[in-house]
Amino acid sequence: MRSGRTVLSSIISSQAKLHDEYGGVVPELASRQHVDTILPVIDKALDSAGVALADVDGIAVTYGPGLAGALLVGLSAAKALALASQRPLVGINHLEAHIYAAFLEPLPPVAFPAVCLVVSGGHTDLMYMSGHGRLSLEGETRDDAAGEVFDKLARAMHLGYPGGPLIDKLAQEGDARAFAFPRAYLEPGSFDFSFSGLKTAVLMEWAKCKEDHACLPDLCASFQAAVVEVLVDKSLALAHKRGVEQIVLGGGVAANSRLRQQLRTRAQSEGMALHIPAQVYCTDNAAMVAAAGSYSLERGQRHSLSLNAKANLSLGGGNSASPGEA
Ligand code: KG4
Ligand code: ZN
Repeated sequence: MRSGRTVLSSIISSQAKLHDEYGGVVPELASRQHVDTILPVIDKALDSAGVALADVDGIAVTYGPGLAGALLVGLSAAKALALASQRPLVGINHLEAHIYAAFLEPLPPVAFPAVCLVVSGGHTDLMYMSGHGRLSLEGETRDDAAGEVFDKLARAMHLGYPGGPLIDKLAQEGDARAFAFPRAYLEPGSFDFSFSGLKTAVLMEWAKCKEDHACLPDLCASFQAAVVEVLVDKSLALAHKRGVEQIVLGGGVAANSRLRQQLRTRAQSEGMALHIPAQVYCTDNAAMVAAAGSYSLERGQRHSLSLNAKANLSLGGGNSASPGEA
């Protein structure tokens, strides 16, 4: 990464095939696979960027939230690189990194303040961002994360893993109005989310029609429409409430075609500037972590080699290392 905006190389070693057979991520297998792939991936990244470790100004690494075993592998590798190259280490909150995917070229720069929606396999977070590293959580899911519901439904429907792209594809052939699934808006003024009721409603319809797979596209389309409607409505509502004109979308579910399209339509008609990363930078990748790292290093943030993985790292605990912390 150069200057927080230019990706010099982005190598992704996907584990989707490994976990497909189980319908979800198996933590032990995930960390073992990380151990096998991390050094070849780092070599390949440096090679294809045409830079040597000695040319690097700093090493950024995700230290949470996420699966502790997998985080530890990345963290250990990053510490070793930092130690060997005598370069600063900076730990990055994974969710904050998802936001920084929207800072990458060729997207226009994000101005502050912004409302950020991060939707991933483990989180559904609506945030207010007043500047680099300055985030406050305004709403989150009270039960399942948006991506988690895609994955759980795909598993119940025997579609495979990860469920998001599979449901997205099937939905394109279905009628989004075929099933009237519930939208959980919760108390008036709340920016929290809830998707477990929707999940149950979809599973009940699936139980009725599963002998006949012809219902799948309509089921997927109607489910997806229900998720997207609430995500889009609450994001716009928060932007209006806070008087914000910039909206950032991030996280694996930001790859969803309906979410991208609906948010674009609404943002345009309500005069908001919208920043949506290319699909390849929505799902987990190193470029977004490096981008967040560039801005953190610029602010003088550093972490010591005793930095530990934090499976439940919250926002604010993210890149909040004080300048020069050791
Ligand atoms: O950010 P991410 O790659 O990993 C986590 O940090 O969790 O997000 C993965 C999630 C999975 O739940 C996956 O099903 C979902 O993103 N996802 C999608 C799409 N592509 C990936 N969900 C809906 N539509 C998609 N096209
Ligand atoms: Zn992620």
